Amino acid sequence: MPANFNSIIDAALLPYAKAGRYTYHFVRGKLRHDPVYRAILKNGLLPNEGRLIDLGCGLGILSALLIEARKQYQAGNWDPEWPTPPQNLELLGVELLEWKVAAAKQALGDRASICQGDLRTFELPDCSVAILLDILMYLHAADQRQVLHKIACSLQPGGILLMREGNAAGGLRHYITSLAEHICCLWRGQGWNALHYRSMAEWVALLEESGFSVEALPMSQGTPFSNVLYRATRA
Ligand SMILES: C[S@@+](CC[C@H](N)C(=O)[O-])C[C@H]1O[C@@H](n2cnc3c(N)ncnc32)[C@H](O)[C@@H]1O
Repeated sequence: MPANFNSIIDAALLPYAKAGRYTYHFVRGKLRHDPVYRAILKNGLLPNEGRLIDLGCGLGILSALLIEARKQYQAGNWDPEWPTPPQNLELLGVELLEWKVAAAKQALGDRASICQGDLRTFELPDCSVAILLDILMYLHAADQRQVLHKIACSLQPGGILLMREGNAAGGLRHYITSLAEHICCLWRGQGWNALHYRSMAEWVALLEESGFSVEALPMSQGTPFSNVLYRATRA
């Protein structure tokens, strides 16, 4: 009997059961309500093998999902209409906040390598996929450009960057996206940080400037946000 997406995310959530109530429920909410996780698997956006580096990986949610998807596929519990999930991807994550690194390590164990570090200065290994989900708006414009250039240099030819950001030209939806992020920062005790959004056209131009060819996929289904997922391929 093929597993449906809800049973996969329920299983991906289990390793967070001992991570405390806040973390558990946060991960649960993300997996259930954020459309990006389903889209990555359903649209087959990742290669089968190589090395994936998740920059600003937070609690390691994407890795937890990929590990569970691989497990379900190998056990024969996979919807045949969905593409095969990655089978041989080595999973690395980099995260700034120590408590998130500790929670991700506890949940993922030796199935992924999670490092504490600042993605602006972290020395990136060669990789076939880089992930930036809801990260770049925290960085100043010059740092955004430098990080994208660094990723382009570490990706092998044909390598993929999956990046999600709000679209600053998204009107009311963008206002809600930005406000929600500010509230999260305040709630985490980080104050009213400046957030550096760009319009979709500006993100595409910046990615192209760094040597990527870009496909933009709306990524706000079922939410009030203005998010766009960019599938950027290194030329
Ligand atoms: C909105 S969360 C997204 C987390 C994760 N990508 C996800 O989708 O679940 C942004 C994450 O980026 C991390 N972060 C922000 N600036 C960073 C930096 N300079 N280096 C590494 N991580 C950073 C934050 O600590 C936070 O965990």
